[in-house]
Amino acid sequence: MKKQLIALMFALVPTVAFAAGGAGYHLDEANVDITDKAALQDGARTFANYCMGCHSAQYQRYERVATDLGIPEQLMLDNLVFTEGTLIGDHMKNGMRSADAKKWFGAAPPDLTLVARVRGTDWLYTYLRTFYEDPSRPLGANNKVFPNVGMPNVLAELQGRQVIGCKAMPVKDESGKIMRDTLSGDVMKQEQCDVLTVVPNTGTQTEEEFDTTVRNLVSFLAYSADPVKLERHRIGVYVLLYLAFLFVFAYLLKREYWRDVH
Ligand code: HEC
Repeated sequence: MKKQLIALMFALVPTVAFAAGGAGYHLDEANVDITDKAALQDGARTFANYCMGCHSAQYQRYERVATDLGIPEQLMLDNLVFTEGTLIGDHMKNGMRSADAKKWFGAAPPDLTLVARVRGTDWLYTYLRTFYEDPSRPLGANNKVFPNVGMPNVLAELQGRQVIGCKAMPVKDESGKIMRDTLSGDVMKQEQCDVLTVVPNTGTQTEEEFDTTVRNLVSFLAYSADPVKLERHRIGVYVLLYLAFLFVFAYLLKREYWRDVH
C-alpha cells in the first residue's frame, strides 16, 4: 500500500506542474523526434546562441552532447561554446549570477536541463512561439502561456514582431472544420480579439521556418532531459532477447531436474 502511494505521488507531480503554468491557453503539438540528429544539432545551435546567455543546462556536459548528437568535439568547442576557458568535459553552465538575474529580470532564469520533463514539450513549443509586444511590461514583451513572464522575447529577430489585437478569423464548426458560405463558397469570417499576428517582413524567418526552429530547439531540450532514452530502448531489445534465450535453457533444465520426481 505504501509503495502504491509513493508511486501515485510521483505520477501526480507532472500534472501539478502543468496546472501551474498552462493558464488554460491551447497548446500546439510539438511532435518532436529525438532520433532525428539533424534536428537535435539545429536545436543545440539555437540553444547555445539564444538561450545560454541566461540559462544553463548544468546537468549536461558539452562532451556528452557532442557524442550523442554526432558533432565533432573541436567543431562543438569552436561553434557552440561561448564561455572563455571552457573544456569539452565541462557542464553547460553560464556566467550569470542568479542574484544579478533577479535584479535584471525580476526572476532568475531557471536551469533548463530538465525543463522538458517538468513542462512538457507541447508547453515549451507553444511558450516559445507566443511572445508578443506589450508596452506595459518592463521589457516590452508578454507571453500567452506564461503571462507576465520575466523573460524577454529573445527569438524576436527570427520570428519578427508579434502583436496582439483583433483580426477577422475563419469561423469553425464544432469539429474544427472551417465553415464556408453556402452560396459564394467564401470562407466565413468573424472578428476575434486577443489574436496573435506576426507583422510581415519583420523577422528573418518565415512562419514555417520559425516553427521548425522552435520544434528543433524543443527536441534538443527533450533529449537533454532524458539523454539515455535512445540508449535505453536499444539495450531493452537485447535484454528481452537474452531473457527469451535464457528461458529455453531454464525450461530444459527444469524438465531434466523434475524427470525422476514425476
Ligand atoms: C535575457 C535572458 C534570457 C534569455 C536569453 C532566455 N531566457 Fe528563458 N527565461 C529568462 C528568465 C528571467 C526567466 C524566468 C521568468 C519568470 O519566472 O518570470 C525565463 C524562463 C524561461 C522558461 C520557463 C521556465 C519555467 O519552467 O518556469 C523557459 C522554458 C525558458 N525561459 C526557455 C528559454 C529558451 C528556450 C531560451 C532560448 C531561446 C531562453 N529561455 C532565453 C531569461 C532568459
